[in-house]
Amino acid sequence: MKTNVASTGPHPSVSPEEADRLARMPDLEQALAFYHRHLAPPTAVDLSVAENVLVYDDSMQKTVFANTSLLPEKNIHYFPPYGTDELRQQVAALLTKAFGREVDAENVFGTAGVASALECLAFALKNNAPGVPAPLEDGDGVLIPAPYWQGFNWSFEQRPKLTCVPVNLPTEGPHAFRLTVDLIRNQYEEHKKQTGRAPRLLVLTNPHNPLGVNYSKSLLEDIYAWALGHRDLHIISDEIYCHSQLDSSTTPFTSAVALDAYSEHPTRIHVVWGFAKDFGLSGFRTGFVVSQNTVVKDAMLGSKDTGAEVRHPMSWFTPFDSLKHHVIGAVLSASADGPGSDLYTTVAMKTYRSLLSKSFAEVKDSLRRNGIKHLHHDGDNAAQFFWLDLRDYLDLPVPPAPADTMPLPLTAPGLDIREEGLFNYFRRQPTEVSLLPGGVMHSPAPGFFRLCYTARQPGEVSEAIDRVGTALALLRPRAQPS
Ligand SMILES: Cc1ncc(COP(=O)(O)O)c(C=O)c1O
Repeated sequence: MKTNVASTGPHPSVSPEEADRLARMPDLEQALAFYHRHLAPPTAVDLSVAENVLVYDDSMQKTVFANTSLLPEKNIHYFPPYGTDELRQQVAALLTKAFGREVDAENVFGTAGVASALECLAFALKNNAPGVPAPLEDGDGVLIPAPYWQGFNWSFEQRPKLTCVPVNLPTEGPHAFRLTVDLIRNQYEEHKKQTGRAPRLLVLTNPHNPLGVNYSKSLLEDIYAWALGHRDLHIISDEIYCHSQLDSSTTPFTSAVALDAYSEHPTRIHVVWGFAKDFGLSGFRTGFVVSQNTVVKDAMLGSKDTGAEVRHPMSWFTPFDSLKHHVIGAVLSASADGPGSDLYTTVAMKTYRSLLSKSFAEVKDSLRRNGIKHLHHDGDNAAQFFWLDLRDYLDLPVPPAPADTMPLPLTAPGLDIREEGLFNYFRRQPTEVSLLPGGVMHSPAPGFFRLCYTARQPGEVSEAIDRVGTALALLRPRAQPS
């Protein structure tokens, strides 16, 4: 039951030009971010977009930005587009703490966002070292456990011309949404059978978006051992949520660089991270590639063999520019309690854990009170998300939109019409809460929604959940008892 329909909105004052802007947004998540920032009534709450207000509200404004001067003159001139040595060292030190294994600043390259860092990796791996074939070619398959962050499609398919191949997680039974080596292996073989070409890239998101879980070290070692046993396969580990850890998580975060597999095959494992999620600085668009691979390093720094006149480094086109250096440099250099005290980033990430754990507990309680099913097992991490299971409501009729509301292009290609109906039902008055339909994130089955519980302060999220609970209760008499 797939369709592509214009959805109805609550806002008759949206002009045709604004509707046009919405229709051109790269995906529903970004369209909803635009809608909530510029068009939605102030009572509407956006829990669909992966944002994090916790750190800024708690400490960043007063500890960093209140003390940060306007741009110094040196920052209006050219900077190395992959980051100055100082910045790369500061980021390497931050990641060394987060990853639990030494990260060498020489292997860290700044970009304009993690989406760009991923794209840079994809492009870079299409280059070849002298006498060695390029690791990736046009059309190569990229295995990605699904559901997954939809931006992987932009980063790998749009310009690098690779092909994303979902590894569908099971949606039923005791192992629902659990990743295994067998699932990856089977999809690898299936893709090879269907296309005659083996996938060349495996992408893991750890902690996962949208499921929020950490992968255990033993599972990762198994997956990496299997993957690296194929000589042509590279792995990208997207660790953008690595600091987003609940105190109650019993499966600790394990970075790819802390795996035994990394010691054995360091040049086929690449990691990305950025400030958008853990630090909540999404608007600055910061990303980092961490890679020891010579082809990748040459692509980011510029290659001595070809020379800059022949080929500009990849980072030139997606720079970690001087403005980012100024702002992120201030975050990285700040002391928590004035000069001489611990680094702000260290203290902020420690505090963030408690803020996250408190928000998670409060929001989980709201979901429980409202009888809203969600996928979370005790001891699992939940990064910044709840994965709601609203399948019981999929086939129930939702009240139609009032006749005078204007259609808004808030939709996604191939979205299940019933899932879209629920999404619009929540988004309209009187509920006015946006949740991200799982179909946007390649969910293997319809009826799941992502709720980002760090997008607002926990009290506001809980209040929005009460509104969703009320909306569901209006449908519930006809739902299966849960
Ligand atoms: C797993 C994952 N990787 C990358 C990104 C994109 O990061 P950026 O905004 O820094 O490009 C996101 C954003 O939601 C994400 O969830």
